[in-house]
Amino acid sequence: MTLQFSDRLLHGADYNPEQWLHDPAILARDIEYMKATNSNVMSIGMFSWAKLEPQEGVFDFEWMDNIINSLYENGISVFLSTPSGARPMWLAKKYPEVLRVAPNRQRNLFGARHNHCYTSPVYREKIGIINAKLAERYAKHPGVKLWHISNEYGGECHCDLCQEAFRGWLKEKYGTIEELNMQWWTTFWSHTYNDFSDVESPAPHGENAIHGMNLDWKRFVSDQTQDFMNHEIAAVKPYNTDMPITANFMYYFNGLNYFKFKNDVDIISWDNYPTWHKTDDFAIGLDTAMMHDLMRSIKKQPFLLMESTPSSTNWQSVSKLKKPGMHLLSSMQAIAHGSNSVQYFQWRKSRGSSEKLHGAVVSHNDRSDTRVFKEVAQLGDLLTRLPDIAASNTHSEVAIVYDWENKWAVEDSQGPRNKNMGYIEEVQAHYRAFTKQGISVDFIDMECELDGYKIVVAPMLYMLRAGFEQKMRKFVEAGGTLVTTYWTGMINENDLMFMGDAPHGLTDVLGLVSEEIDGLYDHESNAGVVQQSLSTGVLSGSYSCTMLCDLVHLQGAEAIVTYKDDFYAGRAVLTRNSFAKGEAYHIGSHFEDSFYDDFYRELAHKLTLETALPVQLPSSVYAVSREDESTKYIFIHNFSNAAAPIPALDEAYSVIARTRPELTQEQWTLAPYEMLIVTTNK
Ligand code: GLA
Ligand code: ZN
Repeated sequence: MTLQFSDRLLHGADYNPEQWLHDPAILARDIEYMKATNSNVMSIGMFSWAKLEPQEGVFDFEWMDNIINSLYENGISVFLSTPSGARPMWLAKKYPEVLRVAPNRQRNLFGARHNHCYTSPVYREKIGIINAKLAERYAKHPGVKLWHISNEYGGECHCDLCQEAFRGWLKEKYGTIEELNMQWWTTFWSHTYNDFSDVESPAPHGENAIHGMNLDWKRFVSDQTQDFMNHEIAAVKPYNTDMPITANFMYYFNGLNYFKFKNDVDIISWDNYPTWHKTDDFAIGLDTAMMHDLMRSIKKQPFLLMESTPSSTNWQSVSKLKKPGMHLLSSMQAIAHGSNSVQYFQWRKSRGSSEKLHGAVVSHNDRSDTRVFKEVAQLGDLLTRLPDIAASNTHSEVAIVYDWENKWAVEDSQGPRNKNMGYIEEVQAHYRAFTKQGISVDFIDMECELDGYKIVVAPMLYMLRAGFEQKMRKFVEAGGTLVTTYWTGMINENDLMFMGDAPHGLTDVLGLVSEEIDGLYDHESNAGVVQQSLSTGVLSGSYSCTMLCDLVHLQGAEAIVTYKDDFYAGRAVLTRNSFAKGEAYHIGSHFEDSFYDDFYRELAHKLTLETALPVQLPSSVYAVSREDESTKYIFIHNFSNAAAPIPALDEAYSVIARTRPELTQEQWTLAPYEMLIVTTNK
């Protein structure tokens, strides 16, 4: 079910009024400016603990009452944060156990944020109290619409409490120390444990060579964070069981397996800070598109863009301004991929401390006639003019596997390339090819089901867990198309190599056996030469390949593309195998983009995959759609600062909005950094 907050898309920001309580004129101007930008939601309370509970057990909610009431009276809703992301001094001073211990076993001092132990009973008790107080007071306030639990959960703690919790987690998983030793293969280097109490978390000056342990530690940290989040949720939920819950996620955040959080939160939200204009904006646009699709896929529902900057950040290596148009384009891109909001960090720049120069809607000049303010206001206006698309969703026939646990294992693997195994790059290469064609993609992990997809792409699935090889087999048996790549089916869920032929459990499905893999230096490349047409002949000629080269023996599969160079010249690098009612393809190396473009164009044709628009778009432009029962909303993005003409669409399509109306006269020419929003009846 789609979660809707209002009858229109949301527009707003992280708002920190607690920094300005001494200046009521600023707070009054904030309201005026929020209205001028058609803002209808503010996230508050995230870093307010010291103002809400200035001394242990002494609470002050009056200021927050005033803020929430004043926002509500002016038509602005609130996303209310729990304040666990940063703690007051009294708490750290009296109970040092709440502070985090680093991998070198040194405890942090008070300061910074995200500096708390997820296990500490004291931290849990104190956050439970303040959360419950907030909930008691505000959970039924008509202006408060969502619990924003903490801020960007992340990080790990190696304190004694966490060590004990890790040992408990391991005992639960393995039962006996003998089983742990077997699964961790501790006979290697004489690392055998005699008792669970001997186990210590990975450390730079201690154990870090047991891959199974490294993996279990990452799983434990993710589970412990999730457990902490659920502790926070349990404190607020009873006060209004209808109030939905979110926690804001981050770009490619490695530390948490976000798929595991999907049943605990009601709506996914995330914070998006692309480095626009650093390199090719189209490439950055596709990179960002992938992250939006990943976030949408976690619950297969619309999500919230919880943070983005209206201008620049202040933590990237260079703080570039968004060129005119980019703010509207990048904000609407989120909507196009399933967001029901555009929200910013931050509403107003602080006067001091480390984020005083971070972009905001309102700057230190306190003016509303700035370039940034005007673009924000323009976007706010556009959002109010769009039809109600909040109930629409994205439909995908393609699933790409992106699995956090596989990533953790790939990155710890030591060989065949220690420089960069390129898991993300591999996943992105497949994603880009579909997105450029306007074919929407769902991301799944190995615990997801494959039903309903026409094609499943499983890039670099080094680890197989949760019976995923069985799921892939059944999928192909039933008529699905599977694409696997090099470095697949090597280890089990505990990071033990599978015995027998690789890819484990799939050799008959793929019709091949992988015997060896060659690592290539960055200055090296090979090439794949097409030997036979797949279906339309688009895949033709030769394509360069890099990184890793899988050396396979065919056992029933046909060679479509073969290596050009080295001692394995002539051996298959793209294969096709018919298996029961379906087909399985195996790609043995990492290719240049044109290979994936052409390969997936062939498959799209063969499988008649749905595209957002049935026309060929220029190279800086892509389209994506959302749909409800009757209408398809198509968003056509031009990620270039040059105008881009697109083929005229017939009368079945109508333009309902564009992000740069003042610049564009011609209906089917996109201005620089423009998005065209088109509808068609289904
Ligand atoms: C993160 C945090 C915010 C702020 C921004 C700055 O997303 O959640 O509090 O620090 O980064 O870009
Ligand atoms: Zn700890």
